[in-house]
Amino acid sequence: MEHATHPPGNAGIAPFAFSEKALAECKEVITHYPAEHPKSALIPLLHIAQADNDGWLSVPAMDAVASLLGIQYVEVYEVATFYSMFHLEPVGKHVLDVCETAPCMLRGSDDLIEHLEHKLGIKAGQTTRDGLFTLRAVQCLGSCGTAPMLQCGAKYHEHLTIEKADRLIDALRAKESRTNFTDHIDTPA
Ligand code: FES
Repeated sequence: MEHATHPPGNAGIAPFAFSEKALAECKEVITHYPAEHPKSALIPLLHIAQADNDGWLSVPAMDAVASLLGIQYVEVYEVATFYSMFHLEPVGKHVLDVCETAPCMLRGSDDLIEHLEHKLGIKAGQTTRDGLFTLRAVQCLGSCGTAPMLQCGAKYHEHLTIEKADRLIDALRAKESRTNFTDHIDTPA
C-alpha cells in the first residue's frame, strides 16, 4: 500500500517498535473488529502504542500503528491529532486534565486549577520538572453532572474538592507506573 509522506519536523525522533506484550495486545484487539475494516481498531491501538511509547505518540509510533493495520499514515495522524487523549509531545507520568468549561467552572474548577498549579509549581499546560505531572485545563469531558472533575488516564475523578485533589496527587506520587488510558488505577474517588 502506498503511504502518504511523513509530516515535516520529526528528524531525530527515536524509532519505535512495539514491545512483545503490546504487539500481542494489538493483535488480540484487532480480532474484535471486522477484518475488512481494519481502521475500526485504530483508537484502541493508538492507546496501546501511546502506553508503549512512554505516554505519547511519536510519528514512528503512529507509523507503526498504520503499518500494523495496513492503512495510510495520514489516516492515523488525522485521528491522533483530533483527540486530546492522544499526546503528540512527551508528557509527565500522570496527565491531569481538569475541565474548565462552564458547568465545572461554576462548581469551582478555576480554584481547583489554581490550587494544582500552586501545589505542583507549574502553570496549566506545563509539566513538572521531575516529569511526574502534566497539568492541562481542557474543555468539557462529558461529566458535567459530577462537576468539578478531572481526568487522569481513563479514570474520571468527580465531585472534586481541594482535599480530594490533594489525596489524588499523593496517591499518584506513590504510584510506580505511568498512568495510561489502558489501565485503571486504584486511587481515591
Ligand atoms: S463541563 Fe466539565 S465535564 Fe462537562
